[in-house]
Amino acid sequence: MNSPSTTSQSGKRILSGVQPSGIQHLGNYFGAMKGHVELQNSGMESFIFIADLHSLTTLRDPKILKQMVIDLALDYLAIGIDPAKTVFFRQSDISEHTELTWILNCVTPVNMLEQAHAYKDAVSRGAKDATAGLFDYPVLMAVDILIYKPDFVPVGKDQKQHVEIARDIAGKFNRVYGNVFRLPEPMIHETHGYILGTDGASKMSKSYGNVINMFADEKTIKKQVMGIITDSTPVDAPKDPEKDTVYSMYSLFAGEDEKTALAAKYRAGGFGYGDAKKLLLEKLMEYFKPYREEREKLKQNMDHVKDILSKGAAKARETASKTKAEVWDKVGLKI
Ligand code: ADP
Ligand code: TRP
Repeated sequence: MNSPSTTSQSGKRILSGVQPSGIQHLGNYFGAMKGHVELQNSGMESFIFIADLHSLTTLRDPKILKQMVIDLALDYLAIGIDPAKTVFFRQSDISEHTELTWILNCVTPVNMLEQAHAYKDAVSRGAKDATAGLFDYPVLMAVDILIYKPDFVPVGKDQKQHVEIARDIAGKFNRVYGNVFRLPEPMIHETHGYILGTDGASKMSKSYGNVINMFADEKTIKKQVMGIITDSTPVDAPKDPEKDTVYSMYSLFAGEDEKTALAAKYRAGGFGYGDAKKLLLEKLMEYFKPYREEREKLKQNMDHVKDILSKGAAKARETASKTKAEVWDKVGLKI
């Protein structure tokens, strides 16, 4: 992540939303989740929320949505999002998000939304059933951000445009009605470029079915690791670690010494990809062990998890309701 030097940033506020969209994988973890925990621990004020309203643009099954929200809350709490340090909440618990979306809709030019990638892609794929919700997605996201007046918004590259739209909408509102909103900076996750999938060819993604899920049962993870596609160099022959997906995944978890030791085994020959996969599996399970245990514990105590979310919502509401009052006043809804 191209985070500005964190020591000079204490006192600043970061905010990010995560859309519940299924079981998290190593790409999500190294590309987003881990960074959120590091930012939380850097001394900045941190707001992280579950963007369940955004999921409604693609998801129509209430049972699945509920489950995905629970899973995401468990995942984030298990990897170290700490409610004492982060305001962790669920977007739909704060009605100000939807209320302010209407107000910002009324200053947002349609042609700005027509340029948004997600909508453009849907239209170019011929999606005749693209909904008003999908079209308006960037305005809801702008509200998510602006209502909390953060300094930085950590997001993946794919979301940079949405943060820029939020800045444009904030600027427009401020020009029309007077200053309310801060223009936040996107903070782009660049940790590893992107994490390669088990096919060794494309970015790890739920939609490509090439993922390793750190919270799946051990048998599933083993199957995913053993299924990593490698080249067909025979066991005896020397191998180039830099060209191998198993090695690149191992590097995510290993220290410098361990990486050097594994690279030497590759180059010496007599060490097969199957052996490397076993090492990767061991390393991965060891790395996630405390998180997996924590997740199991939390799962046994859902009342506690719900309590965390409702306390998070209460804190988020303090800020959201203040911003709402300012906006209501500026636009003339307060008599
Ligand atoms: P998916 O492609 O599996 O649907 P999402 O779009 O839900 O993943 O990803 C949520 C966030 O996780 C993204 O904004 C991005 O920051 C991060 N992410 C997802 N996949 C990867 C990957 N392969 N490498 C790095 N980061 C990723
Ligand atoms: N659209 C983001 C994504 O798919 C999720 C999101 C919703 C978000 N609201 C946000 C991210 C506000 C940052 C800030 O990843």
